Amino acid sequence: MKILVVGGGGREHAIIKKIKENKEVKEIFALPGNGGMVNDATCVNIKATDIDGIVNFAVENTIDYAIVAPDDPLVMGCVDALEEKNIPCFGPRACAAIIEGSKAFSKKLMKKYGIPTAAFEVFSKLEDALEYLKTAPIPTVIKADGLALGKGVIICQTREEAVTAVTEMMADGKFGDSGKTVVIEEFLEGLEVSVLSFTDGKCVVPMISSMDHKRAGDGDTGLNTGGMGTVAPNPYYTKEIAERCMQEIFLPTVGAMVEEGRTFKGCLYFGLMLTEKGPKVIEYNCRFGDPETQVVLPLLETDLLTVMRAVTEEKLSSVPVKFADKSACCVIMASKGYPLAYEKGYEINIPDEIADKVYVAGAAEKDGKVVTAGGRVLGAVEVADTLREAVDGAYALVDKISFENAYYRHDIGERALKA
Ligand code: AMP
Ligand code: GLY
Repeated sequence: MKILVVGGGGREHAIIKKIKENKEVKEIFALPGNGGMVNDATCVNIKATDIDGIVNFAVENTIDYAIVAPDDPLVMGCVDALEEKNIPCFGPRACAAIIEGSKAFSKKLMKKYGIPTAAFEVFSKLEDALEYLKTAPIPTVIKADGLALGKGVIICQTREEAVTAVTEMMADGKFGDSGKTVVIEEFLEGLEVSVLSFTDGKCVVPMISSMDHKRAGDGDTGLNTGGMGTVAPNPYYTKEIAERCMQEIFLPTVGAMVEEGRTFKGCLYFGLMLTEKGPKVIEYNCRFGDPETQVVLPLLETDLLTVMRAVTEEKLSSVPVKFADKSACCVIMASKGYPLAYEKGYEINIPDEIADKVYVAGAAEKDGKVVTAGGRVLGAVEVADTLREAVDGAYALVDKISFENAYYRHDIGERALKA
């Protein structure tokens, strides 16, 4: 089989490495991929948002199955466009990807179907938002409606900060069209859990739970990032909580999307907050999380391509999906300065014997060398019997990898170890 993977980060590298385990797979193309994954896939310089380019490539190269991983192409209708050319895909159509593409949509969906989430209001007029903020409970959370590269959520500790945030989004166009509508919501307190799931619209199969570390600095300080490391499973996500989430969140969400005529097929990501009043949805993503995928997929024992094709063919209930009874830890090595300005172009040294445990995100090929080309450069992932061993193992990998200006957190997994 010839497989096409749309995207080019660490998540895509994890998907590609897992897909390669299937003996039927003869060739994998990554569009655009990156310079650090050339041993695992043929990288083709077509952007993940170039839908016409992707479709033409897939047709010309008689692709048998396509996996669309990032949010933008999914929201833009990449799956719809590929399916029109009869190319089977993993990922939701645009009408279902809206669950991530519009926070106003997802909040209204949760309200309509009684799915627990933070209380909220939606505004498309600045005056109305400012009026509401005069009496809104503080702290408050301001969210741009559309996709904003993970930066469209601002937690405001004061009324003044909230006024600045909505003004920047709605009047100054900080996030372009994505910020023209805003969601203002209740600030929730609790522990966060990420649960990725496979769903074909009929059944939903949660994957092993995980914990992201979003802040740039040790001890959860500093700016929000795309994620500086992950562990799986998340020890705070007990069997009882999982059962409750299934009944109160996962099944109702999948059912609601069917009811709305927006059947979701693919990976549905539940960003959850375990509050005193029970688990609540912070956000949905219409795709695999990054860097959650880098710890979840290495623990998957079932063949990934088989599961994905079952999702596409709406036969997911016929495939038993199994995860190893082990732990995984991913430590992200970033370029110093990320998530703000950083330098790039430095050679990355990864010893061959650990290459299969490294998922490369921001790298390019230059004069036969692999050099840094992004904020998050790579993830080092160890799987072990216990979380302690997985964490120590991941940091041992980090010690063997080098590039100039490397930056990483030293406490990935510490909070999970305290559970
Ligand atoms: P999101 O982009 O929706 O994942 O939000 C980014 C981060 O902001 C989340 O991982 C949470 O840590 C935080 N966050 C989002 N919504 C809330 C909320 N209602 N209350 C508290 N924290 C939130
Ligand atoms: N790690 C969170 C995300 O992928 O959005």
